[in-house]
Amino acid sequence: MMAKNQTLGEFIIDNQADFPYSSGELSRLINSIRLAAKVVNHEVNKAGLVDITGEYGDTNIQGEEQQKLDVYANNKFIQTLTNREIVCGIASEENEDFLTIKGCNGDHQNKYVVLMDPLDGSSNIDVNVSVGTIFSVYRRLSPVGTPVTAEDFLQPGNMQVAAGYIIYGTSTMLVYTTGNGVNGFTLNPALGSWYLSHPNMKFPENGKIYSTNEGNYIHFPQGVKDFIKYCQEEKEDRPYTSRYIGSMVSDIHRNMIKGGIFMYPESSRARNGKLRLLYECNPMAFITEQAGGKASDGFKRILDIQPEKLHQRTPFFCGSKKMVEKAEEFMQR
Ligand code: AHG
Ligand code: MN
Ligand code: MN
Ligand code: MN
Repeated sequence: MMAKNQTLGEFIIDNQADFPYSSGELSRLINSIRLAAKVVNHEVNKAGLVDITGEYGDTNIQGEEQQKLDVYANNKFIQTLTNREIVCGIASEENEDFLTIKGCNGDHQNKYVVLMDPLDGSSNIDVNVSVGTIFSVYRRLSPVGTPVTAEDFLQPGNMQVAAGYIIYGTSTMLVYTTGNGVNGFTLNPALGSWYLSHPNMKFPENGKIYSTNEGNYIHFPQGVKDFIKYCQEEKEDRPYTSRYIGSMVSDIHRNMIKGGIFMYPESSRARNGKLRLLYECNPMAFITEQAGGKASDGFKRILDIQPEKLHQRTPFFCGSKKMVEKAEEFMQR
């Protein structure tokens, strides 16, 4: 049940039944993410006023220069999730290995694992362009009472019990799914409450926006080059328009509202593309499919990929169903 401008708290209580096999733990998990999101939002909005922009002075396992906000957001989400007796393990873009959370009496009783990209779009922090946070939730596979294991994190995306993102933009939104559709909540910073501003979000079946970093054009597979040319042809419904923010959360959020396709293909310089399967592509694919869109690597459904490594990358085509199918047609020629 949903009423416009319902608060997130009311929404979770009203939709408790939606959370399979959780005795309120999954809703407490979402609540802890919403708390951390408010704290990070406060810092994002002060970027430039306080010393939170610029490089942290370290590189992460991805080989990227960590930004101060990458590290700040990572610490905040880990701290909030750890203090609430819900998760038994956390994996993050910013941590080489997963973290084992023992629980208050060290007995590993918690049932869920969270994988996250604490700050998506780091290259945009210092130029005041919107950034995001992405999270993905699974039930553990290993027995409760034992320390979390790698297999708990290496589940295919089709096993996710929840996934969502926060977008720190002109307003701050929390958009998430627990497998029963996608709902968007907007933060009222004055009250610190989240309001159901975008109930039952749906990807338009088709669209006229394509989003990709065309700077990589010469390195793209031929199928991507052909699809981009298709988008640019003077035909009945084309040319489309190109929109690329450089923060995947923002690009996909815009495309979900307006219709469009986001692509981060492989290239001769990045054999598997740049985006990470576990905490970027899987959660965004789950949300996209729940909103009626499509997400593949150009050939195979993202959610069916069996992960092997925590930080593995995958080519990513995500958005309006008809546009992804058209791109796949070119890829599969
Ligand atoms: P992150 O900031 O978490 O490392 O992710 C950035 C990603 C994604 O948000 C965005 O779509 C992509 O990197 C942009 O990459 P390019 O600058 O290579 O286009
Ligand atoms: Mn990064
Ligand atoms: Mn990212
Ligand atoms: Mn990141």
